[in-house]
Amino acid sequence: MLKAEDIFRPGAFPEYTYVSRISALSGFTYEFRLNQAIKISGFLTSLVGPSKMGKTILCEKVIGLEHIVEISGADFDEGTDFWKLAAAKAGLSYEGQFTSEKSIPEAGNRYSKKETFALTKDKIIDYYKEKELVLVIDDFHYAPKTKRMQIAQQLKDAIRRGFKTIVVSLPHRADEAIRQNADLSGRLSLINMEPWTVKDLEQIAKVGFDQLGIFIDDSIASQIAVESLTSPQLMQYICLNICTILEMDGKKSKTIEPEILKTAYRYTTANFEYGEVISLMRKGPNTRGKSRNKFRTKEGREYDVYELIVKSIAENPPIMQLKFEEIKDRIYNLLADSGEKPKPQAIKDSLIKLHDLLNGKEDIFRVLEWKEDVLYILDPLFLFYLRWGVRKNA
Ligand SMILES: Nc1ncnc2c1ncn2[C@@H]1O[C@H](COP(=O)(O)OP(=O)(O)O)[C@@H](O)[C@H]1O
Ligand SMILES: [Mg+2]
Repeated sequence: MLKAEDIFRPGAFPEYTYVSRISALSGFTYEFRLNQAIKISGFLTSLVGPSKMGKTILCEKVIGLEHIVEISGADFDEGTDFWKLAAAKAGLSYEGQFTSEKSIPEAGNRYSKKETFALTKDKIIDYYKEKELVLVIDDFHYAPKTKRMQIAQQLKDAIRRGFKTIVVSLPHRADEAIRQNADLSGRLSLINMEPWTVKDLEQIAKVGFDQLGIFIDDSIASQIAVESLTSPQLMQYICLNICTILEMDGKKSKTIEPEILKTAYRYTTANFEYGEVISLMRKGPNTRGKSRNKFRTKEGREYDVYELIVKSIAENPPIMQLKFEEIKDRIYNLLADSGEKPKPQAIKDSLIKLHDLLNGKEDIFRVLEWKEDVLYILDPLFLFYLRWGVRKNA
């Protein structure tokens, strides 16, 4: 008998709830596109898409565990040797190859050292080809910028010799090194992973609950899908939490009632930690002691412009991309009709400052981007937490 945690797997390969999607741009499934791309010899595949959209899972599905070699951009620092890492991850001993290949290069003789290195690189490429391995450089944007350029340089030469590589990254982040690299142009297969539609997300719930013998009405599957904010991972989390609630109830209920959804959403936020991100956003940049203007809401509470921005993002319906006008309207809607309202320019200025504040910090804080009058929520889990997390000081 399968357990809920086998069916819904927010942190791992979802064997029983894997959903194959058709890319709206190409009209083909992502599996087909990726398969097609890696079959073109001499080409590098660049897979780009927002966080938690299923990029890694897609690679694992298409390539299979026996043939995939996964490296993360985070494995690199300035000094990391690309081939040494590629060898180690494939289970090859790099040092062993290095010395057994030729006599040990004389100390200080850079020429012979280089020659030995090139041979080693050949060996690694041959090994990958022989075992039909595909190297996936995941989260490429995590590699230091200068390193990304070096890696692209190494790949350029290697792919020509039949070395198969997929570079996975977030939109915009690694463009210069791969997609805008003149050396690689004409030798790139580009796959853009689009956010999940509500219909595709619903499938995860339907397929999963069906296997558990639990009935889920279409309208409920659809509500959960909307709250999942285009993220299959959130969908998996929420469904798993619904199961936990049903089990705790002990009623052995085999139907999902709409009443438990809000509880399931709140429980799901316990899996995430965005408390600090949200309090930083609400505080905004340091005012050096000066206090900000406060505005009165319809509920009779007072907030400054940063607190209002945070509130407006959390409003219904949950949306990952908000145009300036929408943010402004949401804020004005929150405020008392008669009272003072922040000027549009003041809201814009604060959005710019908020962007800079968050993007100057660690990765967990990089949840949004303000660009050309649009606010992009980069991290669906963050927006979900903002909507459903229990905050002590809200
Ligand atoms: N095709 C899919 N079908 C069902 N669930 C998926 C699928 N792709 C991803 N997921 C869910 O989303 C989670 C995150 O996917 P992942 O590939 O790690 O995202 P990314 O690499 O884009 O950040 C997975 O652990 C899984 O729970
Ligand atoms: Mg990933």
